[in-house]
Parts: sequence; structure tokens; C-alpha cells
Amino acid sequence: MPKTSHLSIEHVDIALGDRSYRIAIGRGLLDAADSFAGLPAASTALIVSNTTVAPLYLARLCAALAPHYRQVHSVVLPDGEAFKTWESLNLIFDALLAKACDRKTVLFALGGGVVGDMTGFAAASYMRGVPFVQVPTTVLAQVDSSVGGKTAINHPLGKNMIGAFYQPQRVVCDLDALKTLPPRELSAGLAEVIKYGPIADMAFLDWIETNIDALMAREPAALAHAVRRSCEIKADVVGQDERESGLRAILNFGHTFGHAIEAGMGYGAWLHGEAVGCGLVMAARLSQRLGLVDEAFVERLRRLVLRAGLPVVAPVLDAADNAGRYLALMRVDKKSEAGEIKFVLIDGPGRAVVRGAPDALVAEVIAESCRA
Ligand code: NAD
Ligand code: GLY
Repeated sequence: MPKTSHLSIEHVDIALGDRSYRIAIGRGLLDAADSFAGLPAASTALIVSNTTVAPLYLARLCAALAPHYRQVHSVVLPDGEAFKTWESLNLIFDALLAKACDRKTVLFALGGGVVGDMTGFAAASYMRGVPFVQVPTTVLAQVDSSVGGKTAINHPLGKNMIGAFYQPQRVVCDLDALKTLPPRELSAGLAEVIKYGPIADMAFLDWIETNIDALMAREPAALAHAVRRSCEIKADVVGQDERESGLRAILNFGHTFGHAIEAGMGYGAWLHGEAVGCGLVMAARLSQRLGLVDEAFVERLRRLVLRAGLPVVAPVLDAADNAGRYLALMRVDKKSEAGEIKFVLIDGPGRAVVRGAPDALVAEVIAESCRA
């Protein structure tokens, strides 16, 4: 991997017919007016950000958008998964209406996955749909959440339960924005990078293993490759199955267990990526119990998740009936059908399958994972 400080801009295209768009990946993109040229014509832009990201990047994005719009407004939301709610969504609508934003107004999501998911949902529903652009500032958002058009807010009874499929017009990934990311958030994003290997590309898993220290050190060339390859894999999957009628569910490797951890611990206690990291190991372990992969594969994944600074021991959610609590939470997962939990399992390295598993076996995996 060359250690150059001047990386060129790379592009990944999402092919979805008239909803196709481009992901730009590079350094300094957030400050460059060119990054935002050629979007649908409009007089007004509204940037959605949060109380952490806005002080760092809002003024800079405003300056980059100024040549393209007569008015650039902003709304700053409270920060955190706990605020991925109707109340926060309404703050976006309040701002849009207070500023008399018309149906051509372009929304810009400046932040991580929480801001991106909420801005996308607001764009999908304001005046029945306005254009929006993702400007993701976390690793997780650059490699996953900003791409593919899933938008949502949480409900107290389930994560991401209220939402819409709605594609952005463009995704602009500025690698320099990752410099200010707290270390815990960097690790959380790497969970979503790691997941792409076992489900689609073992050569990428090899590459991550070789470069995990460079990624943890935020070497721009390593980050650029991780973001680009992750986006390519996601683009390929989303291009085949935009609305998750089948294949797209493989992108949820580790998420069935992960969502149970997030909900069971209370949103925000474990970061999404931390829960997914632990969930990757749990799902691999379940795959091994079903005879789909060997123990060495589970250990390989466990070690990588650990090297990425992520938890590999699952939390106890209920001292009296831990497996029961996990199973109850997982039944609320969107992949469940008629109460049967569907897991994304590894069916041989580089290949994923979505299927159920006996509760007793899942309970064994949970018990093992909580003491591992
Ligand atoms: P996040 O949006 O909460 O961001 C993490 C933290 O980092 C926040 O405190 C944020 O303010 C801060 N932050 C963001 N950028 C920063 C920067 N450059 N410098 C300093 N601090 C910065 O969390 P996330 O991990 O980005 O996203 C998680 C969310 O994404 C979850 O709600 C999850 O459900 C969602 N998600 C969605 C999809 C999808 O396909 N839509 C996929 C995966 C995850
Ligand atoms: N992050 C899972 C998906 O986009 O489908």
C-alpha cells in the first residue's frame, strides 16, 4: 500500500437505473465546491448535522455549497443513537417548513449513520420526496450506511423499524473527516468493513488482516482502499437487490445478534458497530455449530474483531433467562418470518446464506459467547 498523502479521488457507481448515483472517495472533498457540482438544480440547500459534527465541519460544507445555492440553511440535531427518533425527525421538518423550503430543496446529511438515516427518511417524506446527498463522516457511514438507500428512525420496541428505501443523489466520502473520529467509533466502523470479507470476498478479508494496524492508525491509503472495496461490494449487492427481497439480507451478517445486544443493553450503551463486531463472531459460531464452517474460521474472525478493538464477549442481557431475552429481541428483527428468526450465516468462506436455526442451538451459542 503506497504511503502517499495525495490520493486521487476514486469513484464507485451504484447502478439502479434512474436511481443510479456515484460515491466519491478522497481527501478534502468536503471543502471542494466541485464535489457538489451537477446535483439537481435548486435554490436552497438544508444541511442536517449534529452537535458534535457541526462545530467541526458545518461551516466548511456551507462554504463548499455556497456557489451552488442561493440559500444554505442548517439544522443541528442532538447527537446519538438515542436521538434517532420521531422528535429529531420533526426538528428537520420544522426547519424545512420554517425556512419555507420547496420541493426542489436538496438535503445534505453531514455526520455518521444516525444523521444519514434520519436525513434520508426526512428527504423521502418531505413534500413526498426531495433530493438528498450523503456526506458521511464516520467509517461506518462511509463503508455502509450512506450507501444503498436504507433510511430509518428507531422505535422504542425495535431498531430502524420506521423508514423507507430512498436513494441519495450522491455520496461524498471525505477521508480527512475521519481524523477527528474518536477511536471507539473508528473500531465500530471497522466491524462493517470486516463483515464484507466472509460474506463476499475472502481476498478482502486477507487484505484487512494484513492492514488492520494501518487501518487502526488511520493511514489514508489503507482507509481509501477499505472504503472503496466495501462500497464496491455493497454496490454490487444493492444493484442486484435494492429492496432486500433476498440477497441484500447478507449485508446483515452479525446484525441479528448485534441488534439484540443494542436493544437489550439500551440504545447507545454499545455502539452499533461494537454490537455488530460481537455479532459477527456469534453468527460465525452458529455457522460452525451447523457444520457450515470450521472452528478455525470462527477463531480467525474472532481474532480479527479483537484486533479491530471490538468486543468479542457478548453481554448478559437477563441474568434469569439470558437466551430467552436474546431470542425475544431477535424475533423483532426485520428478517424474522412468522416468528422464525433468520440468521445470516457463513456457508463456506466468502459465501453467505440466510436461514433459521433451532432455538436450542442458538441458546448454546449465546451461552458460549457470553463466557468466551
Ligand atoms: P453515529 O452517527 O452515531 O456517529 C458516531 C459518533 O461519532 C457520533 O457521536 C457522531 O456525532 C460522531 N462523529 C461523526 N463523525 C465524526 C467525525 N468526523 N469526527 C468526530 N466525531 C464524529 O454512528 P455511526 O456508527 O456512524 O452510525 C450508526 C447508525 O447507522 C446506526 O443508527 C445504524 O442503525 C445505522 N446504519 C444504517 C445502515 C443503512 O444501511 N442505512 C447501515 C449500517 C448502520
Ligand atoms: N446495512 C445493511 C444494508 O444496507 O442492507
